[in-house]
Amino acid sequence: MDLDERTLTSVAAYDDHARAYQESLRLRRPVADVRRFAAHARRGDLVLDAGCGPANDLRLLRDAGVHPVGVDLSLGALREARMLLPRHPLVRAPLGKLPFRPRSFGGLWLSGSFNHLPRDAWAATFAALLEHLDRGPVYFSCPRGDRDLAAFSDPVLGEIFVSAEDEAGVEKMLVAHGVKDLSVELRPDPILDRRRPLVVAHGTFSR
Ligand SMILES: C[S@@+](CC[C@H](N)C(=O)[O-])C[C@H]1O[C@@H](n2cnc3c(N)ncnc32)[C@H](O)[C@@H]1O
Repeated sequence: MDLDERTLTSVAAYDDHARAYQESLRLRRPVADVRRFAAHARRGDLVLDAGCGPANDLRLLRDAGVHPVGVDLSLGALREARMLLPRHPLVRAPLGKLPFRPRSFGGLWLSGSFNHLPRDAWAATFAALLEHLDRGPVYFSCPRGDRDLAAFSDPVLGEIFVSAEDEAGVEKMLVAHGVKDLSVELRPDPILDRRRPLVVAHGTFSR
């Protein structure tokens, strides 16, 4: 899967601004969502936090009783994650081509992870990620809208390219890939304002 130049530009922004990004979100994490997710996993299961960034949620997931493995393409983000979690499993890889065996994980956490992928890559990337999932909870969040790698001047990251989807589109993608017990909600973006909501989905996957 070749990556779009705009995806690579956005990932490079995390390389350059990982610490500021981590700090800007430190007190704005989806704590209730983490608990809800962990409640549907088996205690002690390995779960995949794909697009983990600078470990924004890894500690929360761990404290909620699961064992998250963090994956990201941004070396800068992973370096920051490593400072926070010196012995934690962190892997540098593209979302669509992870170096894990099929069915290795008991949960899939995707927080803003598709934000910098072109919309026409979302379904295939989601399918590739699901290959690594045996069963368990699925969490997915993204900005609401219809942007497709649209240029955006982020207050922390600088010039990046962002894709978005609406509730119906997120639901359609997850249902099409066999995610069940789905709930899709709108939430205010934790950094931007309430007029730019996030779509947040919880579901479960089984084979
Ligand atoms: C919006 S941030 C989300 C970070 C974290 N999950 C959070 O909720 O704060 C998107 C993350 O996805 C990573 N990313 C974007 N495209 C990727 C790709 N194709 N493969 C792997 N990681 C990617 C970026 O480097 C960045 O860390």
